[in-house]
Amino acid sequence: MTGKPLAAIVSAGLSRFGKLDGLSAREIFQQAGKEAFDRCPNLDPRKDIKALFVGHMMESTEHQGHTGPMVADWLGLNPIPASRTENACASSGVALRCGIQAVASGLADTVIVGGVEKQTHLPTSDTTEYLALSADNFFEQWHGFTFPALFALIARAHMHEYGTREEHLAMIAVKNHSNGSKNPKAHIQKEITVEQAMTSRIVASPLKLFDCSLISDGASCVILTRPELAKKFADNPVYVLGSGQASDTIGLYEREDLTSLKASILASREAYKMAGIEPKDVDVAEVHDCFTIAELVAYEDLGFCAKGDGGRLIESGETKLTGSIPVNTSGGLKSKGHPVGATGVAQAYEVYLQLTGQADHRQVKDPEIGLTHNVGGHGSTSVVHVYKTSK
Ligand SMILES: CC(C)(COP(=O)(O)OP(=O)(O)OC[C@H]1O[C@@H](n2cnc3c(N)ncnc32)[C@H](O)[C@@H]1OP(=O)(O)O)[C@@H](O)C(=O)NCCC(=O)NCCS
Repeated sequence: MTGKPLAAIVSAGLSRFGKLDGLSAREIFQQAGKEAFDRCPNLDPRKDIKALFVGHMMESTEHQGHTGPMVADWLGLNPIPASRTENACASSGVALRCGIQAVASGLADTVIVGGVEKQTHLPTSDTTEYLALSADNFFEQWHGFTFPALFALIARAHMHEYGTREEHLAMIAVKNHSNGSKNPKAHIQKEITVEQAMTSRIVASPLKLFDCSLISDGASCVILTRPELAKKFADNPVYVLGSGQASDTIGLYEREDLTSLKASILASREAYKMAGIEPKDVDVAEVHDCFTIAELVAYEDLGFCAKGDGGRLIESGETKLTGSIPVNTSGGLKSKGHPVGATGVAQAYEVYLQLTGQADHRQVKDPEIGLTHNVGGHGSTSVVHVYKTSK
């Protein structure tokens, strides 16, 4: 018996992900908003939408702050309350939770939540430095730690402790690129082999090019309403059953254990409890594969396998599209791309498509329960949501 829904998703939109030259963040967000409005003809955005929450991490890269009212303006939604959330790469996972809280508390009947990021106009070195701001300044940033380097430490620790091999990480890249090749909105839409992944250039050993997520532009949004109102807007709404969020130290060096993200364990347990489900009930999941090792650790933290068994899970093929727990059907951050502020809600977009049977060539068979897992930094924030079809 699952829990009582907190809110319902009645529509969703996503821009194309990739290097979107000539488009600013506001124009990219407008693309995602237009798709969500077009998908939901029974909704009158100006009349029905009562608040906007948008995740945006690196807003100063365009010399344009105040993202909330700006994107509300570009969707024609002023004067509704419009707010920006910033939690590093979990910025829009947190925006989603804020939207759910607004609907569940009765503060607003219907809201739009989303995320946006514009980062490909900068050189990689500048983007890397902006991203590193979400690690500890005193002991990490100033010693030259970047996110590839921090996740390389996590990978080394996991390999040492549990015998995880570089091939396991390459298998995750191969799976996610295969899924991304079926996603017309993905940044890179091509299959790769384990050999290509294993021989790609070293970024921060043991992580190589194909272990890293992409630096992308993109935007995402979903429209949330009270469960009782959902059928007014959509025949097949998706219900949000559980929401969990947790925080952890800002420095990786302060953690007792490098082989798991405690915030993900706590956030997922909160979401599972609220939803009244167990990890084995999840039929499809989008997890935060900012690096391949992050997906492997997520398998364990979310309870899809026992601690230390992440390597064996990817080897078994069970997280492929045809497996018992398909993970990152969209291509994930690895192949669909990682416009950081947009990522959390982009995961919800994919789960919405999967649970409403709209995922085309990457559709998994009859999923009922979906999950999203969005991480900020190296797990200083983690947000997990659980969803259910209207069946
Ligand atoms: C790995 C990384 C350093 C590569 O950047 P780069 O060296 O500047 O690479 P370029 O942008 O010059 O791209 C060179 C080629 O590699 C490809 N490429 C770039 N990043 C890639 C990635 N992560 N995976 C696969 N291919 C990638 C490009 O498409 C390009 O291919 P082409 O020559 O066929 O056009 C960069 O993608 C990165 O930093 N990723 C991680 C981002 C991150 O940390 N996000 C936050 C996580 S917490």
